[in-house]
Order: sequence, then structure tokens, then C-alpha cells
Amino acid sequence: MKILFHICFPVKPDRPASKNLGSMTYLFPNPAASPAKSALLVNAAHQKGLYPQAFKATLSHAGYFRAAGVISSWPGYAPTPLASLSTLAARLGVASIHYKDEGGRFGLGSFKALGGAYAVFRLLAAQLRRRDGGVDETALAAGRLKEAVKDITVCCATDGNHGRSVAWGARMFGARAVIFIHATVSEKRAEAIRSFGAEVVRTAGNYDDSVREADRTAATNGWFVVSDTSYPGYTDIPRDVMQGYAVMVAEALGALDAPPTHVFIQGGVGGLAAAVIAHLWETYGADTPSVVVVEPDQAACLYESARAGKPTAVTGDLDTVMAGMACGEPSVIAWPFLQSGASAFITIPDEAALSTMRLLASGTAGATIVGGESGVAGLAALIVAAARPDWRQAIGLDPASRVLLFGSEGDTDPDLYARIVGRTGDAVRAGA
Ligand SMILES: Cc1ncc(COP(=O)(O)O)c(C=O)c1O
Repeated sequence: MKILFHICFPVKPDRPASKNLGSMTYLFPNPAASPAKSALLVNAAHQKGLYPQAFKATLSHAGYFRAAGVISSWPGYAPTPLASLSTLAARLGVASIHYKDEGGRFGLGSFKALGGAYAVFRLLAAQLRRRDGGVDETALAAGRLKEAVKDITVCCATDGNHGRSVAWGARMFGARAVIFIHATVSEKRAEAIRSFGAEVVRTAGNYDDSVREADRTAATNGWFVVSDTSYPGYTDIPRDVMQGYAVMVAEALGALDAPPTHVFIQGGVGGLAAAVIAHLWETYGADTPSVVVVEPDQAACLYESARAGKPTAVTGDLDTVMAGMACGEPSVIAWPFLQSGASAFITIPDEAALSTMRLLASGTAGATIVGGESGVAGLAALIVAAARPDWRQAIGLDPASRVLLFGSEGDTDPDLYARIVGRTGDAVRAGA
């Protein structure tokens, strides 16, 4: 249980860091957490210019508008907050840092609420259209067609957040959900999925094994796989998932006074990063910001793909505390967006994420934020990069840089969060 080892690693939780913030020793207080354990790869294949026409078949503003129309009609929809981390920006020598905090998204704790549930909606609409020759999408979105979809079963593999979204969407529209989780997904995450009425099946092996198991079982039972990752022959639904994420990107851009110059975005299979790259690129064209893709060093399939110049799997147990990013195989439809649109790839050790969670909880970055293990990875990489002159230069970070980060989850595993930070998410929020 390497995760437990990391959690117990002796970093003082929530140190009042006012004096310490400027020093890397606060952020990385043990030798194992040294920024030297991180790696940077500048993307040689990065393509500048206008958003490629060919990409629009997968992700487009037209698709975003369709998704936004549906998602904004769901009960509880509200844009998530965009926090300014002004104190940290000054310390890191950049003009601004904005952190889009997805912790409150639809009460599910992560940005994933946008993708899986939207793909369930699109799938059910397509099934009803096929079966009945038409569908009232407004009625479906409002949960008024539950009787019509109750015999449809959707399933997926998940490390937690995507499955929660699929289960929540299925319940909202009235379908049945079966969610596959792999060996190291915590029981708390499983419970959260069950709380949305889904059946949870635990499989042997890692995330990629659970993807295959979900696929096999669905084929046998006539269920529909709603996956956030794509593979040859299975691309439409993951495209809808990614298109749902664009809602988050558009909200962030709408709340900023000036366009970002840099975005650090965390990557698992690459769906989130692809959605971010696509929406920014179509919005800003040749002036699109530099996007840096960030992964755990133990599950860096996107970094390795960039190095190899083609989608490349990494194997093993992908053991990282950043559970949402414990993926060994890039999503085939996401990868081209990263290959052409990412300016660099960074890997970080678990300790960098843990320290960053504590920093955000302490309030000393300029705002008090409950950021989960995967959610803070982009910020963790920015902190690493900003401290190294050679990396600053390679990425083009300077005192004029305006950095946008997507805090992709809050305390989605509340017990784990409390053990890492030393206070519960609720206690941190109450003190904010
Ligand atoms: C909180 C969080 N951040 C980032 C990611 C990475 O997203 P993707 O797998 O689309 O790259 C995930 C994936 O589950 C996640 O749950």
C-alpha cells in the first residue's frame, strides 16, 4: 500500500505558512518531494496557428453550445468559482494565477460531473430516437422520460469520479447503472457511487484492466459502455464526455478579465486536457495559450506518448495518490489534441500534490481551497516549474504570465483528504 506510505509521510499538516511560502522547503519539505523528481518535456510536435479544421469533427464550439444548453438545464447548475491565488502568483514571479475550483460541481466533487452524465444523456437520446423515431430532449434532460429508459443499462470503468457522474446521470434520467472499479479504488469512492443508486463491481488489476472488464460484461449483457476513454472502434461516447468538459473551460474564460497565457492541466487518459486545448484553441486561434499537460510520475502515458511521438502505454500498477490520473493508456481520440496542442509535458511525484493540497487549505496562496489529490496537480507542476529558471525559460513563464489552472476535484475521498491535510474538507471550508 504505497498510498498509505505517502499519506503517512511526515509533513506537518496545514502549517501556518505565512513566513514559509516563499521557500520551496515549505512546499516540498522532505527530500523525496524534491522538484528534481519531476520531469519536463518540451513538445517538439507542438503546432501553432489556427484551430485545425479536422479537429472540429471531434470537439468544436458547436458541440460545446449543444452541451452547454443541456447541462445548464440540469437542477443545481451553476458556474463553479474562479479563485485568484494572488499571493502565490507574486511569490512565483508571475502576473496572476486563477484556479477554477470544480469541488462544488453539481455536488459531485469534480469536473467529471459534466462529462459522464452528458454522455449518458446523449446515449439515451440516441437510443430513444432509434427505438421511437424521435425524442423530446427537454423532457429527457428534465427526467420526465424515466419510464421510457428504465430498461437501458449503462456501465463504465472508473477510478471514482467518472463513475459517479455516470451513476448520477443515469439516476437523473431514469436508466440503470453498473460501475466497475479496480483494485485500489477506495471504498469511500465506491460508497459515493452506490449513493447514486448504481451497482458497483470491483475488478482485479488496474484501471485499464477494469476498462476491458466493463467492455466484456457490457457486450455479454447488452449494456452500453459510457467510457471517458476511447479506443479503436469506440469513440463517439468519449467524444461526448470530452465535449461536456468544455462547459468548464468556457465558464473560466468568461470569468477572466484577460485571456490566460499559460494553462497547466492534469492528464489521465488525456480527455480533460484535449477538451481544454480544443476549446482554448478554437477560441483564441493562433494566440492560444501555452498548455502544459501534467501527470503523476507513476502513470505518465501522455508524457511517454509525447516522447515516442505516438500513443504509448505505460504498464504496472500505476500506483499514485492522484487516483484520477492513474491511467496507463492514452485515449485515442484525445491524443491528437495533445500531440499538436500541448506545448510541454510535466511529470510530478505524489509528494508535490500532497504539499499543494496543504498549501491551498492553508489559505496562504491567496484563497482557501479544498483541492483533491488529482485536482491540484496542475498547480503543483506550476510551483515546480516556476522554481527552476531553465523550466521557466522553456515554458515561457515570466512576470507577465497569466496562469489558469483547473482544480478538477475537491475532497472526493473525504477521509483521504483529512488524512493528507490534517483537517476535514468541511473544516477547511468553514474557515475559508
Ligand atoms: C479529478 C480528476 N482530474 C483529472 C482527471 C484526468 O482526466 P482524463 O482522464 O480525462 O485525462 C481525472 C480523471 O478521472 C480526474 O478524476
